[in-house]
Amino acid sequence: MSAAAFIHRFEAGTGPEATPLLLLHGTGGNESDLLPLGRAVAPDAALLAPRGKVLEHGMPRFFRRLAEGVFDEDDVRRRADELADFVENARTRYGVGAPVALGYSNGANIAAAMLLLRPEVLSGAILLRAMMPLTAAAPVDLAAKPVLILSGAQDPIVPAENAARLADLLRASGAAVEHRTLPVGHGLSNADATMVQQWLRKLTARIDKTAVA
Ligand code: MLT
Repeated sequence: MSAAAFIHRFEAGTGPEATPLLLLHGTGGNESDLLPLGRAVAPDAALLAPRGKVLEHGMPRFFRRLAEGVFDEDDVRRRADELADFVENARTRYGVGAPVALGYSNGANIAAAMLLLRPEVLSGAILLRAMMPLTAAAPVDLAAKPVLILSGAQDPIVPAENAARLADLLRASGAAVEHRTLPVGHGLSNADATMVQQWLRKLTARIDKTAVA
């Protein structure tokens, strides 16, 4: 396996115009976790789902942390780069366009890190229960990339001000950010799926309009 290889699953899309999704699981998850959500919100899209390579007491993650909410930022940078290389290789191998990341918790955090460090790899991102992955991230040029952040009002892991700072940084970097807070905790809810589906529909409609214009 090359350095950029990840255990992963790939499901081909049936609609060539549907933006592929990069599915990034939370701590203790794996490459199969988000496939049902991905298929529900984007029935025609190609789905690419890697498994995080870092093990925390046997639980897969996408980067090391020192404590809950305290990240090993050197590892965040290295792993974001490695995952970005994997996505680029997978695009060639499977013949798909730049994906929108759909990440949950630790998966949302590595997706946010990729937006800040390797923005060319993603065409957008859906960040579910995300927080700032880096303390000193500089704004980058996100050139109107669409980003949906869904936070939980009763989330015991992600402080509201932390998620708001991430939204502000991405906005300052030029991303088109929609940040909503749902009346839920850290876990995913049906409302997440509904909002993600609506947001993706709007995105597809915008892309179709641009293609016609
Ligand atoms: C993280 O470590 O990325 C966040 O604390 C979310 C989590 O995985 O619990």
